[in-house]
Amino acid sequence: MPKVLYVCLGNICRSPAAEGILRNLAEKYQLADLTVESCGLGDWHVGHLPDERMQRAAKDRGFILKSRARLFDATFFEKFDYLLAADHHVLHELYKFAATPENKAKIHLMSDYSKTYRGQDIPDPYYDSAGGFETVLDMIEDCCESLLRHIYGREFTVH
Ligand code: 4NP
Repeated sequence: MPKVLYVCLGNICRSPAAEGILRNLAEKYQLADLTVESCGLGDWHVGHLPDERMQRAAKDRGFILKSRARLFDATFFEKFDYLLAADHHVLHELYKFAATPENKAKIHLMSDYSKTYRGQDIPDPYYDSAGGFETVLDMIEDCCESLLRHIYGREFTVH
C-alpha cells in the first residue's frame, strides 16, 4: 500500500501537478493500492486551487488538478511512506521536521528516481513565464513514471 506525499513551497504549482499526474497514472494502470496527496511549506495559498497557469498547462496535457493547498504537518511522517520534495530547499526543510531516522529515510527529492533528472530541482515556476510551466510538467511527468517504476518494478508511461 504505497503512500506518497509531494511537497513544495506553496502547494499551488509543483506538488499539485505531481499529485494530479500520479493520480492520473494510478487510474490509467488501475493501481488501487496507491495513495497520493500533496502539501506545501508556506501558508500563503491554503485552501486555494492550483495556480491558474498550472491548471491550464496541466489541462492541455489531459490532467485536471483539483487539490486544495494545505500546509505540511509533521504527523504526515506517520501517514506516508514517501515524502517527495520538489527541490533541495524543501528537502532541507523537511529534514528539520524529521524526528527519527525512520522519518528521515522517507524523505527524497521528487527527481531521485528519474534517470533523466536525478538529483535536480524542479524549478519553481511561480514567478516564471508560461515556458517555465512546460519544463516543470515535462520533469514531473518523468519523475512520476520513474517513481512508479521504482515502486512496482515495471514501466509506466503518462502519454
Ligand atoms: P509551488 O510554487 O511551491 O510550486 O507551489 C510557489 C507558489 C507560491 C509561492 C512560492 C512558490 N509563493 O511565494 O507564494
